[in-house]
Amino acid sequence: MSGLPEQLAENVVQLALRRGFFNPTAEIYRGSAGFYDLGPLGALMKANLVNYWLETFVRQETSFDVYLIDGSLILPFEALKASGHVDKFSDPKAECSRCGRVHRLDQLIEEGLGVKVEGKSIEELQEIVRINDVRCPNCGGELTGFKEHHLMFKLAVGGGEETAFLRPETAQNIFLNFKRIAYAMRAKLPFAVAQVGRSFRNEISPRQSIIRLREFSQMEIELFFSPNRDYSIRDFDDVGDTIIKILTREEQRHGGEAIEIRAKDAVEEGIVPNRFLAYYLAKEVRFFQSLGIPPENMRFRHLLPEETPHYSGGNFDLEVKFSFGWKEIVGNAYRRDYDLTVHSKHSGEDLSIDDNGVKILPHVVEPSFGVERILYAILEHSYLEGMRDWPVLKLPRIVSPMKAAVLPLLDRENLTSKAWEIYTALRKGRRQLYVLFDNRGSIGRRYARADEAGVNLCITIDYQTLQDNTVTVRDRDTAEQVRARVEDLEELIFNDMYRGLEV
Ligand code: GLY
Repeated sequence: MSGLPEQLAENVVQLALRRGFFNPTAEIYRGSAGFYDLGPLGALMKANLVNYWLETFVRQETSFDVYLIDGSLILPFEALKASGHVDKFSDPKAECSRCGRVHRLDQLIEEGLGVKVEGKSIEELQEIVRINDVRCPNCGGELTGFKEHHLMFKLAVGGGEETAFLRPETAQNIFLNFKRIAYAMRAKLPFAVAQVGRSFRNEISPRQSIIRLREFSQMEIELFFSPNRDYSIRDFDDVGDTIIKILTREEQRHGGEAIEIRAKDAVEEGIVPNRFLAYYLAKEVRFFQSLGIPPENMRFRHLLPEETPHYSGGNFDLEVKFSFGWKEIVGNAYRRDYDLTVHSKHSGEDLSIDDNGVKILPHVVEPSFGVERILYAILEHSYLEGMRDWPVLKLPRIVSPMKAAVLPLLDRENLTSKAWEIYTALRKGRRQLYVLFDNRGSIGRRYARADEAGVNLCITIDYQTLQDNTVTVRDRDTAEQVRARVEDLEELIFNDMYRGLEV
């Protein structure tokens, strides 16, 4: 329905620019790679996505307590030295001796030679370049200046006497606050801490619009539990029955397909290391299915040993099929007690807590959601051409920026004032619905504009409205129109937002 895959990405980006979903930062100065601003519709969509995520993973979680925090974006040198980021958070790079362009070396080799080089040292990569005569894809020049490129943005705090960094992940605030949260909330294991916010990585060559950014948003959870107990998770009986697709290490080695398995069985069979991780994998499948990503376009890739941090008990990336291939949108990691151990050691503060009379450092399972990538995934899966004479953005109704458009059929005083009355009642009503008012252009043009912005419903005020206080309600996805009473509109639009969420 949307043409060739590469056309889809181009169409989505063009629509995003045209309609105010996203655009490069400081565009009028030609911007700076890896930085994007969300426009009026993108910012609303992000707020709705974050709210739906909070509803699903924090406010409605009854299997264990989840506490939400909002930590600082700037973290001191010592904290990130302890976490390992100061010493081991880098990508390999090389420079073209002719055009001067800087390339991310592992990507360059992987794309050029079609081989995986994750985990190889800079010397090994340099050797691969030499043997295979890998050159600058931009001008064919020889590569030089092979070195590791550190990914954190360094800051001089105050007069410069203190070094700090913009946080490379939201997770660290959670570990740094772990003991205080545990005591303040009188928390008992298992419990989780969540955070939504910005993180920063000085990527070598960010690309694909909002897919790889230097400044981005994360929605992360750290779930703390004792590794010595065999937990039953309250909702696991239900959630654990969800079928998940896992691209196992073995399948990856011989180019095979993902296997389909119930989340529960994946733990029983030792494919996923514990129930908490399986619980999150299953919840993620349901969450994204409710956001319009079909199961066949989702898989969990078990990262290969060379891609996995030494302390990890297993990493499973939720990958979604985009027009340009499979890409991670959520990283799931079993971090064990790595972070609490290193912070205990480096800070001198004992971060162990009491668990049934025994002091332990809990283990951690972490689902880490990339917000902008998810927004992009939803946009690609919602963009439809060929259905009408204009593109339609069939956004999941819960995250669409505008829930309804209020449209007087003609720009006549009696119709416009009635439409305005309905519009303000909806905006200021108990449900606080974000609806728009549009009286510019023909009704057909206004439907087209609303469809392209992903507006769920169009409410049209016509001459019959003035007589019997009813309006037409047009559905974005079917273009079907029904007549509804004005007094029912608020609940109708509100209920419509939750359509399709029961997966
Ligand atoms: N906290 C995991 C990540 O940022 O990738």
